[in-house]
Amino acid sequence: MRVDVLTLFPPMVSVPLGQSMLGRAQSRGLLSLNVVDLRPFGVGRYQQVDDIPYGGGSGMVMRVDVVDAALASVRTPESRVLLMDPAGTPFTQAHARRLSACPHLIVLCGHYEGVDRRVRDHLVDEAVSIGDYVLTGGELAALVVIDAVVRLQPGVLGNPDSLAIESFGEGEGLLEGGCWTRPVSHRGWEVPEVLRSGHHAKVAAWRHAEALARTAAVRPDLLPRKPRDGG
Ligand code: 6GU
Repeated sequence: MRVDVLTLFPPMVSVPLGQSMLGRAQSRGLLSLNVVDLRPFGVGRYQQVDDIPYGGGSGMVMRVDVVDAALASVRTPESRVLLMDPAGTPFTQAHARRLSACPHLIVLCGHYEGVDRRVRDHLVDEAVSIGDYVLTGGELAALVVIDAVVRLQPGVLGNPDSLAIESFGEGEGLLEGGCWTRPVSHRGWEVPEVLRSGHHAKVAAWRHAEALARTAAVRPDLLPRKPRDGG
């Protein structure tokens, strides 16, 4: 898939995405990443990309004309355009799955106090937030979204089986209980006996119980709702 990221801070995006699995996806041609610097689209002698807010308020606002010109330089009829925005729709695994079917994503990273509202209203397909906290800019949020989407592309993960059982994945929407490897004992901390038993059905049942217990402990909101009497 192709991903264009529009940002005032290109290395914040290109450097992390050059590492690890996403770096490998790029060198294998599974991800075509293009990081676009917004600065050259700025206006006037100083290539200004932001201005003071109408109606007053603190901080600077990213200009709609600058964003429009930058988007026009990369947009095609099959592009889906995301605005990273703390006031956007919360990002989920289901959302990642939908976006992974898009041939071309354009991700716009806001900065300063915000982005002129006309961008959200007229220039993008959706505004996306990664959670209920505030970041200094959209770049780190864009990395989260791009990682979650690209790893769902066929061939990106070394072992596609890992998609089947992961938390929030195609499985049951439970958190994973845990995993262990050698040594079997470290400082008296032991690998659970059942995992060494070679009894596959017992292992599966134990893992399911662990996943349920973990989910109940830290994310009870994710548990499947019990059918209620008479309903
Ligand atoms: Cl998308 N941007 C910023 N600046 N902060 C955020 C966010 C996005 N999602 C959560 N916090």
